[in-house]
Amino acid sequence: MALITDSNEAVRILKSGGLVALPTETVYGLGANALDEQAVAKVFKAKNRPSFDPLIVHVASVDQARLIAEVSDEAAELFERFSPGPLTLILPKKQIVPDLTTSGHTTVAVRIPNHPITLEVIRNSGLSIAAPSANPFGYTSPTTAAHVIEQLGDRIDAVLDGGPCEVGIESTILELTATPKILRLGGLTLESIQESIGNVNIESSSSNPKAPGMLSAHYNPGVPLRLFESLDELLAQYNSVNKSSIGLLIMGDGPSGINIYNLSTSENDLEAASRLFTGLHQLKTKGFSEIWAHYLPEKGLGRAINDRLKRAAH
Ligand code: TXA
Ligand code: MG
Repeated sequence: MALITDSNEAVRILKSGGLVALPTETVYGLGANALDEQAVAKVFKAKNRPSFDPLIVHVASVDQARLIAEVSDEAAELFERFSPGPLTLILPKKQIVPDLTTSGHTTVAVRIPNHPITLEVIRNSGLSIAAPSANPFGYTSPTTAAHVIEQLGDRIDAVLDGGPCEVGIESTILELTATPKILRLGGLTLESIQESIGNVNIESSSSNPKAPGMLSAHYNPGVPLRLFESLDELLAQYNSVNKSSIGLLIMGDGPSGINIYNLSTSENDLEAASRLFTGLHQLKTKGFSEIWAHYLPEKGLGRAINDRLKRAAH
């Protein structure tokens, strides 16, 4: 495994069928040529990902999206409005996309990521790049190159270091049916989508979801996670227990200390999202036997953060 900063090197490896972890604005993705079945098979293997869980294909423009999917006028408008950015659309796939990439679905998930070096890789390679989050299946997504190396370093060819991810949680996945449906809440808020297309449904997570990434048990932080309804409730309990073994993931005006990771003292949900997976990761690395966290107000990015917390605690 090589840690690289040169996009040409990433292009070379991807074109020869290798695996490169790529930075995006949401989380790092494990990239491979989406149209090369053997390369895609390596992605499933490296992640230990069940073959029924389809991959998101990353492109650099709406024109490029048209090479792999049927892009309706509505889809094109959504891309124009929100991309590059944390929006993934489920669209009818074109035949050129291997069944392995879409796990046999007649649709393909398409996204234009907002990271300059990865857009450069996509443009310069001319490839459509399949990239699931660069973590072993079921675990938290990486938001730094170091986090990728720790989790998958011995199973991939390279990590392209593009710095820490700005958004910090995965893209919002939208299926454009008669009443559009959000399959996964993410970095683009429900409110923004509703402003653009009106009413949308939200698919809830379950043990047999439409997007397998919506499994109710996902984002395992590697340490038991206990969730409280609010910071106040968390602190009330915390005052009556042995504190040394517990790491706290909190947001707002609360205590500080080496066992406490504050997502945002000013309660800014953008900042909180960008620090969520890093916070879980750091508390785990410090060796606490339990992590306590609390739900955020159910609006804006708070919805997606609450979704990740709930599933990390499952
Ligand atoms: O922000 C992101 O979306 C990141 C970065 C790397 O782009 N990628 C990501 O990929 O989160 P992954 O594989 O961890 O999650 C992709 C989700 C899965 O839940 C999968 O089931 C769903 O997308 N998905 C992919 N193709 C689908 C399809 N055709 N129909 C329904 N769901 C699909
Ligand atoms: Mg994932």
